[in-house]
Amino acid sequence: MMNRNLLLMLPGLMTILVAGAVGARSPEQGRMIYEARCAVCHGNQGRGDGPEAPFLSPRPASLISAGTSAKSDADLLTVITNGKPRTAMPAWKDSLTEEQRRDVLAYIRTLVRFGPKPLTPAPPQEQH
Ligand code: HEC
Repeated sequence: MMNRNLLLMLPGLMTILVAGAVGARSPEQGRMIYEARCAVCHGNQGRGDGPEAPFLSPRPASLISAGTSAKSDADLLTVITNGKPRTAMPAWKDSLTEEQRRDVLAYIRTLVRFGPKPLTPAPPQEQH
């Protein structure tokens, strides 16, 4: 007969096990890495408009574009790891661990929002 407390804990334990199994990473850790290393080119919101962007050709990718969002984790991790030839995108394999590269990707994924929230706030409503 199973102890009742153990039964209550099961869903939480399962979540931890499943998250560990699929290698879920921490977007919060990723945010700190992103702001320190990536935002200078890709911009704080990932739109490819960081302070270095105007000086680069090709321009840094917009990480929230449909094109980039549709790419698989594996594809994006390859670019983050090895850089992108003939662009300014550096290889990060020597300066970030694999966990950090996954964290930063997890953060990039949070920048893309499918929800109805507009990127620019609606103009204020007129008062009647
Ligand atoms: C010196 C500027 C620079 C920095 C710093 C930089 N990037 Fe990039 N990044 C680029 C450029 C340029 C490209 C290529 C754009 C293109 O392909 O047209 C790129 C491409 C990418 C792509 C591929 C997008 C796609 O659709 O294939 C990813 C993902 C990416 N960067 C993530 C990062 C991450 C994560 C960091 C920080 C760890 C970072 N970048 C730092 C300039 C930079």
